[in-house]
Amino acid sequence: MRRLALLLLLSACPKLVPAAGDDAAVLAFSKPGGAPVTRTLAELKARVPQETWTAFDPYYQRPKTWHALPLDAVLKDAFPGEDLTAVDFVLTASDGYTVPISGARLLGGGASLAFADADGAWQPIGPKAAWPGPWYLVWKGAAQQDLTTHPRPWALARISIERFEDVFPRVVPPAGDARVQRGFQLFRAHCFQCHAINRQGGTVGPELNVPKSVTEYRDEAFLKAWIRNPFTYRVSVMPPSPQLSEDDLDALLEYLRAMATVKVPVGAPAGH
Ligand code: HEC
Repeated sequence: MRRLALLLLLSACPKLVPAAGDDAAVLAFSKPGGAPVTRTLAELKARVPQETWTAFDPYYQRPKTWHALPLDAVLKDAFPGEDLTAVDFVLTASDGYTVPISGARLLGGGASLAFADADGAWQPIGPKAAWPGPWYLVWKGAAQQDLTTHPRPWALARISIERFEDVFPRVVPPAGDARVQRGFQLFRAHCFQCHAINRQGGTVGPELNVPKSVTEYRDEAFLKAWIRNPFTYRVSVMPPSPQLSEDDLDALLEYLRAMATVKVPVGAPAGH
């Protein structure tokens, strides 16, 4: 009897039926100088193959199964012709919360856009028990659990391509010197995800510019050897960079020295 009542309730109230997502849910995409694009879940389902998979979720602290769309396919569809691994993205949630992330990270594999919780309805997430839908960014890999390197914004509203200089102005070196600029590009590609300069950037490793630039308290020989292979000094989460040439290391240090001339006060707000 009770089961019948539940069935009747479920059929009368489609929202309680194990969710396949809200087909009318909208996600916006934008880029500098381009017209914004919006896609509904129904449109995305028609354009991108769906997937259902299970992985441990660091917010829920247990394995979760998601109905999802592979993010690389979603982005390639929304930004045709764009070299997506070379640009920077900002993910914006419906409450205005923003997460900057490089295209290299976002399209490097494993990112997936969950549109429904396979357990049924969405379940509250995070310290404030927020509503994760209609889009929750999740990562598949067992090595993609760290929320600082693989952020999981929920209630996503917009994915935009942004100019790095607009999002992280305090990491940009003074204009003019080509070698400093090259070092800056190397820093962005290999270091920025873990290290902040002027309080902007990653937080896995130490800030490298304020109050003292690392070039002011470490000598050049140490810095080069450390960057090439930290493991020769200590066990570290900082990865070796055997691909960097001597010339690359020089350029990186020139960038770090240039940043020492444009420090911000230590009390400047962190983040972006
Ligand atoms: C995966 C994260 C990660 C990446 C990528 C990374 N680092 Fe680090 N780095 C760290 C951590 C964590 C430390 C803290 C020291 C330790 O692990 O022993 C560190 C320490 C350092 C230090 C200070 C060493 C000292 O003893 O004073 C320098 C300088 C540094 N990193 C430069 C770089 C540069 C340049 C790059 C890019 C080529 C880079 N790091 C890439 C995580 C990272």
